Amino acid sequence: MPRRRLIIDCDPGHDDFAAIALAVTSGAFDIEAITAVCGNAPLDRTVANALTIADALGTSIPVYAGAVAPLLHRYEFPAAFHGVTGLDSAGATLPPPRRAVAPGHAALEIAARVNAAPGEITLVVLGPMTNLALALALDPDLASKVRELVFMGGGIVGGNVTARAEFNVWADPEAAAIVLRSGIKATMFGLDVTNRAFIDTDDLARLRAAVPAPNPVADIIQFYTERSGDVAAGRVHGPSLHDTCPVAWLIDPTLFQTESLPVTVETSPGPRYGATDADRRTWAPDHLPRIDVALELDRPRLAARVTDALVEAAKRIANNA
Ligand code: BDR
Ligand code: CA
Repeated sequence: MPRRRLIIDCDPGHDDFAAIALAVTSGAFDIEAITAVCGNAPLDRTVANALTIADALGTSIPVYAGAVAPLLHRYEFPAAFHGVTGLDSAGATLPPPRRAVAPGHAALEIAARVNAAPGEITLVVLGPMTNLALALALDPDLASKVRELVFMGGGIVGGNVTARAEFNVWADPEAAAIVLRSGIKATMFGLDVTNRAFIDTDDLARLRAAVPAPNPVADIIQFYTERSGDVAAGRVHGPSLHDTCPVAWLIDPTLFQTESLPVTVETSPGPRYGATDADRRTWAPDHLPRIDVALELDRPRLAARVTDALVEAAKRIANNA
């Protein structure tokens, strides 16, 4: 079977790192570009982290820089979870990249690559949707030219950055609204499933044991584990690697159950800013664009697959060092 063609748009980010590692080590994809956006950290950091990750994994995937700021929203970068670099480690770090960012803006690159191969490119968005919204503003026809969009963002159950809003959508709600209203074929992996997408203490021990120290992959995941409020509260037994979900679904759709729902984004100022709302009435009006929303997952199988990928990444990085 031909490998699926991907562009990964991201804001690495510890779980972005895990998602890229999963995509690269799976062998299931031709990853044609990684595009970075400001989100978990300022753009210069997410670009540097994307380059570092792509290089450490031994790929030559080009990395493009995208939006420096969300369309409207301004916020403090959430260093509490990902550290000041956006990819802080509890010990060893990944080696610095040996190449530079590719020329051209991420939004233009997304548009050019989708236009060059209509119906072929799957977009995986793991951060705020600013780059894709900019691309759609330049060229609304792109919505019908992508093969599909899979994204981590939102949540019908509630939020993480506020009571109602999940970080990626909250960081740029106007961008998410533009994307979801575009009619693009999309599958959403929100907190409904990603809060439960954790690897547990046995998985972490397996990752630690995979290569002798230094093991930057284990140390990066350990930093993220130590910053998880849900781990500290005993709600989950390890870090929720949110961004792995859309990639894992592309590899094995049986890991998740989805439902087609009309989803809207709250863009009015107030406590619901950035919330995603799904109309779950069976008689919901037809005029609202529907997307597929992941609502259930097979957590043990997902965790095994993600841990396998992190182990493989740790080995590749040790060999490439
Ligand atoms: C999302 O926010 C970021 O911190 C993570 O990388 C993930 O994409 C989870 O809400
Ligand atoms: Ca992310």
